[in-house]
Amino acid sequence: GDALRVLGIAGSLRAGSYNRSLLEAAVELAPEGMVIETFDRLGEIPPYDADVETEGDPDAVAALKQAIDGSDALLWVTPEYNYSVPGVLKNAFDWASRPARSSVLIGRPAAVTGVSGGGSGTARAQMALRQSMVFTRTPVMPGPELLVSRGGERFDDDGVLTDEGIRDRLVDFLERFDEFARRFRDA
Ligand code: FNR
Repeated sequence: GDALRVLGIAGSLRAGSYNRSLLEAAVELAPEGMVIETFDRLGEIPPYDADVETEGDPDAVAALKQAIDGSDALLWVTPEYNYSVPGVLKNAFDWASRPARSSVLIGRPAAVTGVSGGGSGTARAQMALRQSMVFTRTPVMPGPELLVSRGGERFDDDGVLTDEGIRDRLVDFLERFDEFARRFRDA
């Protein structure tokens, strides 16, 4: 069928982010038939405030919801902060989850991956994001998981994913995500 349109969101604002580098590798390694676009305005999303929301979504929030709505599936690439999802990413997720009964997250297939600096590979952050997706009724690919540990050893100074093992696993992850997401889109 048609190309699967994936929106990728990396949850770090710093220029040298390993998580953004992993997302960029995913863009490059996406299987034929999958196109990954990235949401690059995370830093412009204000803190969630229901009063602001009542007045109308701020620009970057509207852009986020529109980008999600125009996609077939979401790829969340999350760092781990204090065993959970970084505030900036959770905050964007919270905006996107509104209104709760008709949000752009409901029923839209998703996958989660992430890179940590140390050895845990964002295991706990990924589980925390999966937990939030129970509330939003978002189907998340159960596996394969892709936990990338020791980010400092996986990318070169330009942010290119140089670790061959991780590249192979990312290719497999994206192929499986393509199959998973199509089941929902084409249902
Ligand atoms: C971290 N880091 C971290 N790593 C981890 O594996 N488990 C954790 O709980 C935490 N906690 C944590 C809290 C805070 C406030 C910071 C700033 C960092 C380290 C983190 O994995 C590392 O900084 C990554 O490089 C962050 O991802 P980006 O920015 O490279 O994409």
